[in-house]
Amino acid sequence: MTVRLDLNGLLATAARRTGGELGVADLPHRHDDVRAAREAAEEVRGQFDTLVVLGIGGSALGPRALEAALGPAAGGMRVFVADSIDPHAFGALLASLDLTRTLFNVVSKSGETAETLAQFLIVRDRLLRELGAVDYKAHVVITTDAARGALRQIVNDEGFRALPIPSDVGGRFSVLTAVGLFPAAAAGFDVDELVAGAAFMDERSRTAKAALADPVLALAGMLWLLATRHAKTMVVLMPYSDRLAALGDWFCQLWAESLGKARDREGRTVEWGQTPVRALGAADQHSQLQLWVEGPRDKVIVFVRAEDHGVSVDIPAAYQDLEAVAYLGGHSLGELLNAEQRATEMALAAQGRPSATFVVPAVNAFTVGQLIYLFEMATIAVGALAGIDPFGQPGVEEGKRLAYALIGRPNFTARAHEVEAYLARKDPRFIV
Ligand code: PA5
Repeated sequence: MTVRLDLNGLLATAARRTGGELGVADLPHRHDDVRAAREAAEEVRGQFDTLVVLGIGGSALGPRALEAALGPAAGGMRVFVADSIDPHAFGALLASLDLTRTLFNVVSKSGETAETLAQFLIVRDRLLRELGAVDYKAHVVITTDAARGALRQIVNDEGFRALPIPSDVGGRFSVLTAVGLFPAAAAGFDVDELVAGAAFMDERSRTAKAALADPVLALAGMLWLLATRHAKTMVVLMPYSDRLAALGDWFCQLWAESLGKARDREGRTVEWGQTPVRALGAADQHSQLQLWVEGPRDKVIVFVRAEDHGVSVDIPAAYQDLEAVAYLGGHSLGELLNAEQRATEMALAAQGRPSATFVVPAVNAFTVGQLIYLFEMATIAVGALAGIDPFGQPGVEEGKRLAYALIGRPNFTARAHEVEAYLARKDPRFIV
């Protein structure tokens, strides 16, 4: 007659970690990989002015988030992250570069993503024509799976410089591998400090005496509970720091692609997910906030507030006789921005709209490392709570296969007929 409690669903992630199955959780402790990425960057920093990352999704958003949060650094390379195959955008970027001073970092975990391979082919051709068959290779570094995929084969066959992505770490969880660390080190950022931040969060999380003392579990538990019990189907991430805006994009991909799943671990249809929305303070107070305060009660807002913005821009006192202007004088822009965040939090609370706030002492490598690790682990924890697999992205893979079919990749032609049939079924009456 004993009442039993089965905690497997909650502890599955911890068990996987203990069993060494959760590669991403161990990244802050893989010091050799961090050193290899840093040393590879040190080698190229003297030779080139500019680094262009060619990649998409998890192979682009992490490097871009780091560049935006931590750059620019004295003595570092300029870093561009090119995740667009828009002909105008990519063509304009290439036209703006001095190829003799540019290094291209081709990043793809699978080594087979069409967008990235297309960029690589274009760049390789330009480099070959401009620099010749001997010198062009020095302008390419390929970051890809250590053993598998077309890019790895090209590395093996042609001898490009290469960095490995560990086989146990997937695209959107790869920012603390060479995917993020090599461009960050090339840009002159302190990658050891970044990883130390992640290790610090790991330590805090693992040694917490209670769930609420663990930032990972507290965030994951809160968001999961709000999603499942209180119909908060959307989570808005709103940093009050322009430097953290790209981290918001990175978070949105992590949350969306990891947690948006049709089936649970038992194969039952659940169509689980919580839609992430990216916002930026204070601009979105004048854009989306009205909807959050008065619209459907389907959102939870997560703020990020930087206590110290790194630079101080003072607002001069003037127009003392105009009350609506004069009060601003003597404050700084950072003060105003942070007051806006607190005011927005209170305006939401007054209407019973839930929010949480990350308070970041300063935006630097150590604190960004903490945030990255916290968001990654919280994503995995919510996956465990919801009973879904946060790794893999079957919905994205299907889109990739259909794109291959449309563009004529051999072995996918059967799918091309499917696509043609789909297009043929379109009713011209509904095209106006
Ligand atoms: O998170 C993921 O796995 C995806 O977003 C991938 O990063 C994206 O599809 C690009 O894939 P790859 O890195 O294999 O080129």
